[in-house]
Amino acid sequence: MSALLPFFQWMGATSLSQYFLSTTWAAPIVQVIHLVAVALFIGAGLVVDIRLLGKGLTETPLPQLARATEPFLVGAFVVLMVTGIPQLTSTAMKQYYSPFFWWKMEAMLFALILTVTIRRKLTRTDESQLGPYWPKIVGITSLGLWSAVVIGARLIGVLS
Ligand code: HEM
Repeated sequence: MSALLPFFQWMGATSLSQYFLSTTWAAPIVQVIHLVAVALFIGAGLVVDIRLLGKGLTETPLPQLARATEPFLVGAFVVLMVTGIPQLTSTAMKQYYSPFFWWKMEAMLFALILTVTIRRKLTRTDESQLGPYWPKIVGITSLGLWSAVVIGARLIGVLS
């Protein structure tokens, strides 16, 4: 990752980072919004993942549930990016040297790929065509990867 060091040094020196660090309220407000978006994002994903495991809102057809939760999933992810960026730039060197930041980013990459490819296709397909195993495999993998993102994110603050 050493090729990215100059980029992280540049992020730390931007005026966004300086502003974020020099005002009392910017950081806590953005952190709270980030956490509310985490709750919304994980919640919207969780109802569908639990449904894929055959539990929870079983009376709602899977494609209908996936369609209803998708705007929350997408909207919350946009908010996570917007509120994550100033937190990242203002603590750029801390993040660069935290193994858990890289853990979070790698887990997020895998989780996003799963979410926009296989999981998306599967949740749009009529359940009678899915068979017993694929929904469970995808549901468990999705739960595991997003849990890894959240655990990694929390550990940045705890262990660095
Ligand atoms: C581009 C997207 C994202 C960026 C750039 C980003 C960046 C950050 C940064 C820099 C922190 C502060 C870490 C610290 O120094 O303690 C943070 C905290 C956190 N993020 Fe994100 N994040 C993003 C997306 C996500 C996603 C998708 C999730 C979960 C689904 C998430 C969950 C969390 C959690 C749980 C915390 C810890 C808050 C705390 O312990 O107080 N983030 N994020």
